[in-house]
Amino acid sequence: MPVTNAESGTNVHEIADGIYRINTPVALPGDNQHFSFNQYLIVDDEPLLFHTGLRHLFPLVREAMAHVMPVERLRHVAFSHVEADECGALNEWLAVAPQAAPLCGTVAAMVSIGDIADRAPRAMADGETLTLGRHTVRWLDAPHLPHGWECGYLMEERTGTLLCGDLFTQPGDGDVALVEDDILGPSEAFRHAMDYFSHSANAPALLEKLAQTQPQTLACMHGSAWRGDGAGLLRALSAELAR
Ligand SMILES: [Fe+2]
Ligand SMILES: [Fe+2]
Repeated sequence: MPVTNAESGTNVHEIADGIYRINTPVALPGDNQHFSFNQYLIVDDEPLLFHTGLRHLFPLVREAMAHVMPVERLRHVAFSHVEADECGALNEWLAVAPQAAPLCGTVAAMVSIGDIADRAPRAMADGETLTLGRHTVRWLDAPHLPHGWECGYLMEERTGTLLCGDLFTQPGDGDVALVEDDILGPSEAFRHAMDYFSHSANAPALLEKLAQTQPQTLACMHGSAWRGDGAGLLRALSAELAR
């Protein structure tokens, strides 16, 4: 796995055709716990980054992207919801990529991004698609799943990759970029320890909506990405939430 910064351990790995995971492990304060922050770069005619990373990680993520393509080529700075790890470095990316614009759901654009971003956002309606070149992404609104009124996801339809944000958040370094074994168990253990879910009544219907996209790869924001029957795993998560 190419490590792009020896000090931080930031690394980049292609997890689906033209889709790269940038992973930075971090030590959590206290008892030797580790966590990780991932961004996903879709390299295409109009390159798209899903999650900006924390503002203080920006130099590391930019360095990692530069190993894959020139950062000034970036066109879409996309993210699931408004939190520091999802979009904290938004304006830093807009500064280094003159043709880039924020890409988010209509709620995020209206409530936050139209104000805090240095360039106007492209607001995606639920179900709307955007062709990047070889890849096509579809925006899926997912309010309050797992948190944030403005929450949503991108499905990359060519590779069947669901950019699933905080769903299936796993603790640890996420040092293996793509796994096929169980991530539901570790992510559920983490959720029980640190409950970041809204427990909204809409969760079962939203998880079923995501399942119907039939993803083959789940691009998780924290921990390893996963390959397998994504619909089955999303329905298994829904069953766990109902327990
Ligand atoms: Fe979040
Ligand atoms: Fe996150």
